[in-house]
Amino acid sequence: MQAKFIVVEGLEGAGKSSVIEVIKNQLLLLKVDQVVTTREPGGTPLSEKIRSLVKTVNDNEEIMPVSELLLMVACRVQLVENVIKPALKNNQWVLSDRFSWSTFAYQGAGRGLGLDRVDQLHQLALGGFKPDFTIYLDIDPVIGLERAKKRGELDRFELQQIEFFNKAREAYLTLLEAENSAVKIDASQPMDVVHQQVKDQIINYCRLK
Ligand code: TMP
Repeated sequence: MQAKFIVVEGLEGAGKSSVIEVIKNQLLLLKVDQVVTTREPGGTPLSEKIRSLVKTVNDNEEIMPVSELLLMVACRVQLVENVIKPALKNNQWVLSDRFSWSTFAYQGAGRGLGLDRVDQLHQLALGGFKPDFTIYLDIDPVIGLERAKKRGELDRFELQQIEFFNKAREAYLTLLEAENSAVKIDASQPMDVVHQQVKDQIINYCRLK
């Protein structure tokens, strides 16, 4: 089977990291052993530096919404050109913790920049490059942020008002409706149920390809 690019999306506390592990193990069981895992923002030396800049609260200088958008897209160009495309060319599967949908949700909806503007910028930066399959973990932000709080100190995004996350969730659901190669899983269910549903989705996806 040709290598695929799979993305896990969702708000904070949705359980993306453990789902990435579940997918990786399931792919191994399906005899896909060449898997590159990555995350966004991040995944290259430059993108990881930008990640820590945008996640850290800095009282000296406010990051403007448009700057935040451009930084996220800059990270993505670095990751796509230097990691994702070369891996796929090498027949390695790629599994990413977040991708473009996060920018639509957080900068487009959350920051109010608009989904169309994010789309235009993506066309310019990435052409039509997109994941082969997306698993969206849906969670009520109140529950998700409670989980995030238990993990430790909140970062610059996690400190946003609940309204920011409500808008982001709404955008995720809008994107999901328009995309055939994406599925939604209710991440408020017990973890073993979520993980089983993720495994089933991966088995199903690989069977159809
Ligand atoms: P996380 O990897 O712990 O989820 O942290 C990444 C944070 O960055 C998260 O709050 C979502 C945010 N983010 C954006 O705002 N826009 C983006 O395009 C991406 C990839 C992430």
